[in-house]
Amino acid sequence: MKAITLNDFGGIDKLLITELALPEFLENEVLIEVKAISINPVDVRTRSGIAMADHLKHNSPLILGWDISGIVSNIGTKVSKFRIGDAVFGMVNFLGHGKGYAEFVAAPENHIAHKPLNISHEEAAAATLAALTAWQLLFHYAKLKPGDRILIQAASGGVGHYAVQIAKYLGAYVIGISSAKNKNFVLGLGADEHIAYDEHRFEDVVSEVDFVLDAFAKDSLYQSLKVVKNGGTILSLLPMISEDVLQKAKEKNVDVHYALVKSNGSDMEAIAALLEKGVLKSYVSKSFPFDKMGEAHLEMETGKTVGKIIVKP
Ligand SMILES: NC(=O)c1ccc[n+]([C@@H]2O[C@H](COP(=O)([O-])OP(=O)(O)OC[C@H]3O[C@@H](n4cnc5c(N)ncnc54)[C@H](OP(=O)(O)O)[C@@H]3O)[C@@H](O)[C@H]2O)c1
Repeated sequence: MKAITLNDFGGIDKLLITELALPEFLENEVLIEVKAISINPVDVRTRSGIAMADHLKHNSPLILGWDISGIVSNIGTKVSKFRIGDAVFGMVNFLGHGKGYAEFVAAPENHIAHKPLNISHEEAAAATLAALTAWQLLFHYAKLKPGDRILIQAASGGVGHYAVQIAKYLGAYVIGISSAKNKNFVLGLGADEHIAYDEHRFEDVVSEVDFVLDAFAKDSLYQSLKVVKNGGTILSLLPMISEDVLQKAKEKNVDVHYALVKSNGSDMEAIAALLEKGVLKSYVSKSFPFDKMGEAHLEMETGKTVGKIIVKP
């Protein structure tokens, strides 16, 4: 099979198409013939030598990627939920070595779910790491409920566009932030209000929210602290939270929570159910062929991705 290996950390020239043997799979794993892969900021940061690089550097060959959709082509002896021929999707082995940039991927059965029939492999591959992040933060941690007001930064991006839809599904009042050019996209996802960060500082036009989904950490957390109400919660997508921020949050009785998304088949089933009902939709803005993985990385690096970027083996 073809896979894209990373022989060294650095630029996109380090992504090499390589011929490899089919992956071996364990008794609790399925072998998936991959139809679509989605790309995340963590992919490009790891490629460049940060994010998961330290964690993965001892693997050889190292294959980036966690988000896939495809067809089950073989199953381990203890697999009970899936059969050969099933269409499945999921985020495989995150925080580990997902090996998603390949024509075939071995995945634990408790990391994946059946792909809804009404969506494409591209739309399914998109709704994995980014959708899981939004689901795990908003449903499990924040336990959003009707009447809650949430401010969502980067509402037009991978995580943000699912977060807006999930927050609305859970009954919250949603204020989404993006540049002005993506206003209609964010409102079209169901946001009640939009703030253009290139026209306003959001802390000048919003206040007293129950939750902020903070996509940038560092300085952004100071702005988030200004708009969250006493006793509220900041859900940080990034770990850069200074002692000073934590101290100021404590004074305001604000919970600043950071967590990394984790592979979880039950959560994938919940996301599959929402996709099937049409409550949740993936927006795929760009699709690249397998041999243009580098271009997909460059696109992701712009920080301007609307929805998700897909690569097709
Ligand atoms: N903790 C976790 O487990 C976890 C999981 C997933 C992602 N993350 C992190 O969360 C962050 C977001 O991930 P993602 O996949 O959603 O990224 P993404 O898809 O690259 O986000 C791109 C979006 O960000 C918007 N944006 C850029 N600058 C902005 C600003 N100043 N204010 C508001 N929006 C802005 C852009 O909108 P415009 O084009 O309109 O500017 C674009 O639509 C990344 O840093 C990622 O590493 C963490």
